[in-house]
Amino acid sequence: MKKQFITLKSSFTVALFVLTGYSSTITAQQIISVKTKSNALILQVTSGKEVNTIYLGEKLANDFEYEKIQGQFRQGTDYSGIYNAAYTPSGSKNLLEPAISVTHSDGNTSLDLLYVAHKTTTVSAGISQTEITLKDPVYPVEVHMFIQAFYDTDVIEQWTTIQHSEKANITLNKYASANLYLKGYSNFWLNQYHGEWAREMQPEETKLTHGIKVLDTKLGSRANLFQPSVFMVSLDKPATEDEGKVLFAGLEWSGNFRTDLELDPLNNLRIISGINNAAAAYSLPKNEVFTTPKFWYTLSSKGKGYASRNLHDWSRNYKILDGKGSRMTLLNNWEATYFNFDEDKLKVLIADSKKLGVDMFLLDDGWFGNNYPRNNDNAGLGDWEVNKKKLPNGIGTLVKTAKDNQVKFGIWIEPEMVNPASDLYKKHPEWVIKQPARAEHYFRNQLVLDLSNPKVQDFVYGIVDNLFTENPELAYIKWDCNAVIYNAYSSNLKDKQNNFYTDYVNGLYKVLERIRVKYPKVPMMLCSGGGGRVDYAALKYFTDFWPSDNTDPLERVYIQWEYSYFYPALTIAAHVTDWGKQPIKYRTDVAMMGRLGFDIVVKDLNENDLAFTQQAIKNYNVLSNTIWQGDQYRLQSPWDNDAASVMFVNKNGNEAVVFNYSVNSRYEAGTHLPIKLKGLQSDLNYKVEEINVYPGKKAAVQTAVYSGDFLMEIGINPNVTASNSSVVLKITKS
Ligand code: DGJ
Repeated sequence: MKKQFITLKSSFTVALFVLTGYSSTITAQQIISVKTKSNALILQVTSGKEVNTIYLGEKLANDFEYEKIQGQFRQGTDYSGIYNAAYTPSGSKNLLEPAISVTHSDGNTSLDLLYVAHKTTTVSAGISQTEITLKDPVYPVEVHMFIQAFYDTDVIEQWTTIQHSEKANITLNKYASANLYLKGYSNFWLNQYHGEWAREMQPEETKLTHGIKVLDTKLGSRANLFQPSVFMVSLDKPATEDEGKVLFAGLEWSGNFRTDLELDPLNNLRIISGINNAAAAYSLPKNEVFTTPKFWYTLSSKGKGYASRNLHDWSRNYKILDGKGSRMTLLNNWEATYFNFDEDKLKVLIADSKKLGVDMFLLDDGWFGNNYPRNNDNAGLGDWEVNKKKLPNGIGTLVKTAKDNQVKFGIWIEPEMVNPASDLYKKHPEWVIKQPARAEHYFRNQLVLDLSNPKVQDFVYGIVDNLFTENPELAYIKWDCNAVIYNAYSSNLKDKQNNFYTDYVNGLYKVLERIRVKYPKVPMMLCSGGGGRVDYAALKYFTDFWPSDNTDPLERVYIQWEYSYFYPALTIAAHVTDWGKQPIKYRTDVAMMGRLGFDIVVKDLNENDLAFTQQAIKNYNVLSNTIWQGDQYRLQSPWDNDAASVMFVNKNGNEAVVFNYSVNSRYEAGTHLPIKLKGLQSDLNYKVEEINVYPGKKAAVQTAVYSGDFLMEIGINPNVTASNSSVVLKITKS
């Protein structure tokens, strides 16, 4: 246990601090502090034993001064004394949005949560966990607040467990994961995201006004289609890439979430985030422990870029499956064939993967279903046997062909779904989510299977397990999810329908957990009809995700730019397709900013396009570690410039790559000014050379050596114009 991670102080007495046990003295105005490299979260136990947040911000130089913070504010009256509760109960004296709301087994709806004890432990080097026990003095209900601090990356995760020993079930009407309180700032600027199919991650920034702004989703399965849970709040004024105070946050939950941002009567910001309680009041049996999902956040005083780099380090280190590993390049057949393929066609594509120089061929939708063949999107989902007409020799022969061509083989599944036109639907109508007395309503002609049901969990697990058992050399899974949940009803849950949305997601995690126990390493892509589903709970099981079906590279510059704040490049699947009007160079250059893939007909490429692509893949293989594991700098935004510029620098600072893309085709649009690079060392010299130059074209930038000082103070002009619409620069320490 390193002392700087957690310190514990008292305003009046020094509490007895037991390192790994409960702190045994309850003192008036006791302080519980959680610290990371730059920040401090300071909670205070009042004389009435309420636990309130008195500070969340940059660390102060002197620990003893936290207790003086309160005295400097003259913001008015807190009528309940708990506007800043660390976990706000409801039905007692609370006047604002609660974090938790309960109906007791006797029908009473009041709750108070008072301090009992807390303890701080070291989880592993650099990670501390503070657990605070809160109890209702009247009813036997107990909440444990968990605060896990990742020292080096300034990330904190919060969640709770809730349990009771009342005679019968209690109902959790609301059960948030975290309840933050930000005070001491003149204004709060929310940067949120909205979307739709092919228009994911559209940012909107607004100044928060009094009352509650709710970010939420109620879609159930592909829950992020309209809104992801990630957001930013700039403090005082909108933060820029390198300046300003900003909080990044999100919920680690792949289902319905709800985040309340409440500017309270004292002008402070309360942020309460957790599972969405809409139609989801949870019935909790006696002595059962309900664990809320984790809510992560990071606070930066050096702008968005710093927050994002911290987050990338944190997620690669602790969250993403194989976050420190590498990723495979691939050729996917979806846009090359859609459902229209057979064995011969696929064998040609597998050989094309080799010709192109990628690591893997990925077989997409359409390979299964016999009584209801999957020849379009209205049949077959649920029937995971190989379609004998298209693939008479099964998947095995394709895996072998891939092996013969020295490429790996991956396969698409959509295991949570069923088409009414399927054997599965006929055999197990009780496994399908639908209201018994209502007409079915479809999303892409399909319905969702009831993952709250252990039998369905077994079935879904079996789909993956069978594929691997039959094809042990299968190297990759694309896990798709194309429907939202309508008519939510589980025949499995009987009178506990309100548990459905929560149990669905926990059922999904149980399946993924089982898969990962047996197949810990196989890479899997999380796809959801585009970017309908990504969060840091899911990425524990997945190596990459599909951000959008919109692969028009111009659109992708924006979509990937926004995702990149929250997710590192190695998780962002980016494929070259025929979407958009841009040349293959631009399409490839944009896809190289993520986990590179192709979804094209290789034989349709002309000689130069093919030669360009083959060389670009080689260049990517050289630079990929810098892109996946390096520090990302967003140098110039596409939102307010003619060109976007994104840079990745490897951790030892001797290699970097700068991607520059034109986003404006108007007369003379381009990079008129040099772009200042970042993350280099001033006193070193660097060779700047353009790569991915199209065959027969002159480089837009001449190879030359510059000092780090020059590159960062003056910058370099990538000479992006309408005709040089994308320019990739490789920077190497010389
Ligand atoms: C939606 C995905 O986003 C696509 O990439 C593709 O896999 C289709 N589903 C297949 O149905």
